[in-house]
Amino acid sequence: MEEEPTAVDAKVVVIGNTGVGKTCIVLRYVQGKFVMHTASTIGASFMIKKLFLENCRLTLQIWDTAGQERFRSMGPMYYRGAAAAIVVFDITSEDSFTQLHQWVDELRKNSDENIVLAIACNKCDLSGQRAVAFKRAKDYAESVGAIVYETSAKNLAHKGIEDLFVEISRKIIANKLSSGGAMVPAAPKDGVQLDGAAAEDAPSRSRCGC
Ligand code: GTP
Repeated sequence: MEEEPTAVDAKVVVIGNTGVGKTCIVLRYVQGKFVMHTASTIGASFMIKKLFLENCRLTLQIWDTAGQERFRSMGPMYYRGAAAAIVVFDITSEDSFTQLHQWVDELRKNSDENIVLAIACNKCDLSGQRAVAFKRAKDYAESVGAIVYETSAKNLAHKGIEDLFVEISRKIIANKLSSGGAMVPAAPKDGVQLDGAAAEDAPSRSRCGC
């Protein structure tokens, strides 16, 4: 007999300097769109993404946080309870890569020790303006035990964002299974054919500017 799918809920926080493309990454992944002129995030907001992976119905609550300095002190509030964090920098900005180290340090101090850590080297469609070689990001990622992907929220053909979230999701599932935490059999969903990682999307957006 086939095993019942298991429900897994997980919070994912997206952090990094202002303007690196955090909002665009979340919008690309959840809604499949790219917005050229985004308003700078105030506080934070989240979107929901549902996917089916490794016989789990996974619900990701993806928190897009503000990168502006004036919101920095609020960060730890959003890290609490996060199963994964994506730290984003912009490959055309050396400064955003330098500050990536501070984001990771702050995250490590304020999050669960088993948090799945990922680094997104964003705007890789702008390779002509590249200031940070992928190898530097890869070496740094290895030193902190992070997954690393080059991503582009703009270039539709680039699969980095999808691949990044799938790998994070696999690690979240593995962590939850090994800790025996928050796993409940999922209620069967009549009439919904689930096939592959991105089979089920349920975008919703909620804002928190506290
Ligand atoms: P804050 O909300 O201020 O923290 O910024 P953010 O990190 O959320 O950046 P946002 O997603 O708002 O993107 C900033 C700018 O970068 C926008 O003009 C986007 O259109 C642009 N952008 C984001 N991702 C990409 C990308 O992959 N490629 C290119 N070329 N531009 C991008």
